[in-house]
Amino acid sequence: MWINSSSLLLGTNLKMNQTAAETGRFIIELAEVLPRSFGQYFIIPPFTSLAAAVRARDESELPVWIGAQNMHWEPSGAFTGEISAAMLTALGVDLALLGHAERRGLFHETDEDLQRKVQAALAAGLRVLLCIGETAGERANAVGLETVGRQLKIALNGIAADQAPMLQVAYEPVWSIGAGGTPATPDDIAPVATAIRGLLVSQFGDGGGAIPILYGGSVDPTNAGIFLQVPEITGLFVGRAAWTPPGFLAIVDSARDMSGRQS
Ligand code: 13P
Repeated sequence: MWINSSSLLLGTNLKMNQTAAETGRFIIELAEVLPRSFGQYFIIPPFTSLAAAVRARDESELPVWIGAQNMHWEPSGAFTGEISAAMLTALGVDLALLGHAERRGLFHETDEDLQRKVQAALAAGLRVLLCIGETAGERANAVGLETVGRQLKIALNGIAADQAPMLQVAYEPVWSIGAGGTPATPDDIAPVATAIRGLLVSQFGDGGGAIPILYGGSVDPTNAGIFLQVPEITGLFVGRAAWTPPGFLAIVDSARDMSGRQS
């Protein structure tokens, strides 16, 4: 079920945690312990840590993409509190995380907002990590697949096949995220991952078959490898469990041991 080891993507969203100095240290310490040939890592810190993260990435030569947690779709203007894609690329940021459940839920981001953001990020040369996932209520009403399909289709509408290599999709069921969340099971994830792959292939052809699909939501060292055995899941998007170097390393070790992947 593995395509090849370099296709594994594994990283963390630091959410609203860590100062710039803490993130710089986090990455330097990670670089001392993480295997280099296991896959591609990514770290998504708060805006204020991005410059320190980019510096630590460059100094350590760790294969890690640095991502921003959000961005605005306009290049500049009267948008107090917002950050543009061009500001991120000027800092050396690699990726924009778009559509995280906390931004959709707490900050009222819509599918149409995300369509504009995806287009602006790709136009600026940023990779996009697009998050999609159904709420507990949608799951209870058996419309999870419809929700995920709608989120994906609207966010990616208008994106051309030659942009597919810059896309990665994270399936994060809202009910699985954070301290109150319950991790999904492989049986929960498999039909959704297959549906996501189907939509990506129908939009992008062969390029859609190569877009990484990550699982996120209460991933920890006891379950990381299990998720990676689900067909079409080629990476992990981790929160709390990966916020320290030993925690991050434990996830990598679990992924390696339980999935059958070799570094
Ligand atoms: P947790 O792993 O803490 O549930 O968070 C997942 C997440 O939101 C990653 O973006």
